[in-house]
Amino acid sequence: MIHIKNSVEIESMRKACRIAADVLDRLCAIVAPGMSTLEIDNRAKELISEYGATSASYNYKSGRLRYPSYICISVNEEIVHGIGRADKILKMGDVVSLDVCVIYDGWVGDNARTVCVGPVSAEVERLLRVTCEAMHMGIDQARVGNRVGDISNCIQRHVEANNFGIVREFVGHGVGRGLHEEPQVPNYGARGRGPRLAPGMTICIEPMVTLGSPSLKMGPDGWVALARDGKPAAHFEHTILITDGDPEILTRPSSEAVANK
Ligand code: MF3
Ligand code: CO
Repeated sequence: MIHIKNSVEIESMRKACRIAADVLDRLCAIVAPGMSTLEIDNRAKELISEYGATSASYNYKSGRLRYPSYICISVNEEIVHGIGRADKILKMGDVVSLDVCVIYDGWVGDNARTVCVGPVSAEVERLLRVTCEAMHMGIDQARVGNRVGDISNCIQRHVEANNFGIVREFVGHGVGRGLHEEPQVPNYGARGRGPRLAPGMTICIEPMVTLGSPSLKMGPDGWVALARDGKPAAHFEHTILITDGDPEILTRPSSEAVANK
């Protein structure tokens, strides 16, 4: 069942999403060479509580495992769900995907962005640009009259037209009181398929894109997903509200200064 949010619930979602966006924005701004991913996670914990929110990722259950970090920090060939580590030190030329997922007043906001540590190769720059573009092209399909497959197909076409890989093992999702609600929003698929979009639905659109093959393997901690070929990956995510008109990006940060988001 897909939950349609009423106007009061939507207002609550707006607040949670704004916090998730501002925390992500502020964390992206501190990413620098020499920093460990644990330091970023520690800062995330502080910032989330500064806004009176909690992390939706911390203690997130998957089978017998519980996620031990406050946000996900995935470096280079790590695609998603990287855990902050004291011995994982950022260096020039790295790309870092930050995925911030918070709960505020019982509602979830979820967003992610990949940023560079200093200059990166032209190919990696293109990877980040195309992934961000694919997300926004998917968002533009998030309209009444369309189906989930229209979002999926649009993302897949843009990514594959640019000769990058689209990850299939992880997908976007409905979001609300729960982090993962129906419907699933895959980043691949056929136009005109899947559930119809209706006003009041809130969904996360989050392409995960690889520079090389999208084939992945799980890391030894049981959480981090890695590109099997060791090449870098990118991940952009927004929480979206379906309206009678244009889709509303709920995870827009208060400051609009960052170019790629
Ligand atoms: N934003 C991630 C998602 O949409 C949150 C993952 S939480 C984790 O799935 F605990 F699984 F890492
Ligand atoms: Co998500």
